Amino acid sequence: MGIVGYSFVERIEICGAAGSEMELEYYLLEKHWGRGYMTEALKKAISLAFETANVLKVFAQCHMDNKRSERVMVKCGMRKSEKQPKPKEYNGVLKENVRYELIKNGRPYSPICP
Ligand SMILES: CC(C)(COP(=O)(O)OP(=O)(O)OC[C@H]1O[C@@H](n2cnc3c(N)ncnc32)[C@H](O)[C@@H]1OP(=O)(O)O)[C@@H](O)C(=O)NCCC(=O)NCCS
Repeated sequence: MGIVGYSFVERIEICGAAGSEMELEYYLLEKHWGRGYMTEALKKAISLAFETANVLKVFAQCHMDNKRSERVMVKCGMRKSEKQPKPKEYNGVLKENVRYELIKNGRPYSPICP
C-alpha cells in the first residue's frame, strides 16, 4: 500500500554526540490517503531511527505545493529547516521544494548546544 524509506546522508555530530543524518522518503497509494496512515507510519519510522539506529537527525523534502505531505511532516513534529533546497527541474518545469527536519531530542536543529 505504500513505503517509508530512509537513506543515509552523512555522519554528523550534535553537541558532542556522533551519529547519522538520514533522509526520509514516503509514498502511499492514493486510495489510502487521508486516514492518518502515513503520519502513523512516519512517526514510527522516526522513533525507530532515533532509538535503534543511532540516527541524530532526519529530514524530508517535498514540492512546495504538496500541502498534504507538508502537513504529515508537521504532524510528526518536524520543523521547517533553515537550510532550504534549491528549486529543481521536473519534466521541464522548475519546482520549489521545502525541507523539514527533526533532531533526536525533538527540538529543531540549533547550532547552540544546551
Ligand atoms: C504525502 C502522503 C504520504 C500523505 O498521506 P496521507 O495518508 O494522506 O497522510 P495523513 O492522512 O496522515 O495526513 C494528511 C494531512 O494533510 C491534510 N491535508 C490534505 N489536503 C491538504 C491540503 N490541500 N492542504 C493542507 N493540508 C491538507 C489532511 O487534512 C491531513 O491533516 P490532518 O490530520 O491535520 O487533518 C500521500 O499524499 C502521498 O503518498 N503522496 C505522494 C507521494 C509524496 O508526496 N510523498 C512525499 C514526498 S517524499
